[in-house]
Amino acid sequence: MLLAGLESSRVLCTRLANILGGEVVLFRERVFPDGEVLVKADSPGKLAAHDSIVFCSRMYPQQNQALTKVLQSLDVIRDYSPQANLTLAVPYLPYVRQDKRFLEGEAISLKMLLRLFHLFSIQRLVTIDTHGPESLRNVAPFDFVDVSASVELTRKILDGPLAGSDTLLVAPDKGGIERARATAKEVGLDCVHIEKRRDRDTGEVSGVLPSELNRDYSSALVLDDIISTGGTMVLASQLLRKAGVRNLVAAATHLLLLEDAGRRLLSSGYQDVVGTDSIETVFSRIGCEVFLAKALRGE
Ligand code: R5P
Repeated sequence: MLLAGLESSRVLCTRLANILGGEVVLFRERVFPDGEVLVKADSPGKLAAHDSIVFCSRMYPQQNQALTKVLQSLDVIRDYSPQANLTLAVPYLPYVRQDKRFLEGEAISLKMLLRLFHLFSIQRLVTIDTHGPESLRNVAPFDFVDVSASVELTRKILDGPLAGSDTLLVAPDKGGIERARATAKEVGLDCVHIEKRRDRDTGEVSGVLPSELNRDYSSALVLDDIISTGGTMVLASQLLRKAGVRNLVAAATHLLLLEDAGRRLLSSGYQDVVGTDSIETVFSRIGCEVFLAKALRGE
């Protein structure tokens, strides 16, 4: 197997190659003064010499530019290796949250993205905790493998900031229930979810905890796939503190942390924020290569 990736994802590609074995081909990235981009494989001959290629790249931040670079790279791979079995591995896949037409006339970004990848005849797409993996699986015209980092993140927190405390696992909205339940079962915690509502026009969120938590907990771990502006987590903190929970940790696989969300979370009552390095932040505690390797090995 050959591992290829954008130069800006060199560390990730090298770590992945160290786990899986195999050579690495990097694509240099140029950005012209007008904003256009151009990639160039450092050893294109190697692309032609392999019948199985994994192209691995971060696609965030600057997801619009990253998308163009990834598409250019897939195009180069297909030029040099038209028959190779091609897998695309992306730790945080952008554009997937818009998986349906919420307002008439809107684009369905997820569908567009999959169509673009399909143009290059990829056989498989590998991601970590993609938002709404079922909607992606239902429309993807290729194999789709999504691995979860939730159990590892939870264990890290139970061994670290919440060690020895009586912890409740909380899904901050309906969409996170299954992930939270599966994680709670795996690590032996109780689990509840918050009924969250988001106003589609203003973006404002409101919510309620189950009216009766079946007992008092000293700590809560609020687990989500993404922390974006932090609004969802702040709401969870307000509700949990009102219910008497004293120690709070926020965990998510993908830490977008927009608009200084990290600081907001800490000042809203969370003692810590923990995530993977699918997006590199000061709160990233687990390398995402282990999850990609797991998926690529079919574990
Ligand atoms: C939405 O359903 C996701 O799972 C997250 O809860 C959401 O993206 C978090 O966004 P924010 O941090 O802006 O509240």
